[in-house]
Amino acid sequence: MNFWHRFATATPDYLARHYWWAYLWPPTVWLFDHQPIINAILFGQYRRLLDQALHHLEQRPPGRLLQLTCVYGELTEKIAVLQRDQPFFVCDVAPIQLAYARKKLGGHRQHKAHLARMNAESLAFGSDRFSTVLIFFLLHEMPAAARERTLHEALRVTQPGGQIIVVEYAPQPVHHFLYRFSLARRLLTRLEPFLADFWRFDILNCLQTHAVQDGKSIECTQVRYFFKRFYRVEVYAVRTPR
Ligand SMILES: C[S@@+](CC[C@H](N)C(=O)[O-])C[C@H]1O[C@@H](n2cnc3c(N)ncnc32)[C@H](O)[C@@H]1O
Repeated sequence: MNFWHRFATATPDYLARHYWWAYLWPPTVWLFDHQPIINAILFGQYRRLLDQALHHLEQRPPGRLLQLTCVYGELTEKIAVLQRDQPFFVCDVAPIQLAYARKKLGGHRQHKAHLARMNAESLAFGSDRFSTVLIFFLLHEMPAAARERTLHEALRVTQPGGQIIVVEYAPQPVHHFLYRFSLARRLLTRLEPFLADFWRFDILNCLQTHAVQDGKSIECTQVRYFFKRFYRVEVYAVRTPR
């Protein structure tokens, strides 16, 4: 039996097969959830990306907030501080990740976080329930079909007047030294087996296709690149079509 099979129960196949070592195995979950390690994984850009995500969250429209999957680092805690006594929702398919998020939130007595185990590809929320959905470095880790289902779900649960914030790798960074240096590129795409496909993936086009089905329209209203266009933070406004 392959080692990853022991993680296969009730998690998406790609997560158990390709990311057991990153998100499901207790020793490495403990290891990765240290600020210097997360910062190193994001080539020193963690703080800037986090601050930009928080900047958009501060300016978000009133209404419910969903953090679509847990992340290592401080994001969930920072959201709790930002939200004060306002409730927010966090979902993830991995119980160990939810347990870590819960532990981190333990220090924030006032928080009203609702944590739930859910697959991002089929959320158990009704339509139009959130004014903001934050997706922080999830999409590039998904095979194309799962990524598309996740974006469709994010759009479905976001109400018109709301927004989807995406923090991710930028489109194919052909001029970036990490891309041009083939050893670095091969290492990165080995550790992140769906990244090469994600680099060519058009988020806006995918959202627009599903928006038509859902009776919504979508527009990318803000985009900011980081680390010489290696990463991006984008805001997609969800509207009612005119
Ligand atoms: C947000 S992503 C990437 C996090 C990022 N690399 C970081 O730590 O900064 C990782 C999380 O997504 C979760 N995840 C992956 N696929 C999922 C899915 N289909 N549904 C729900 N959670 C999922 C994993 O369990 C993990 O906790």
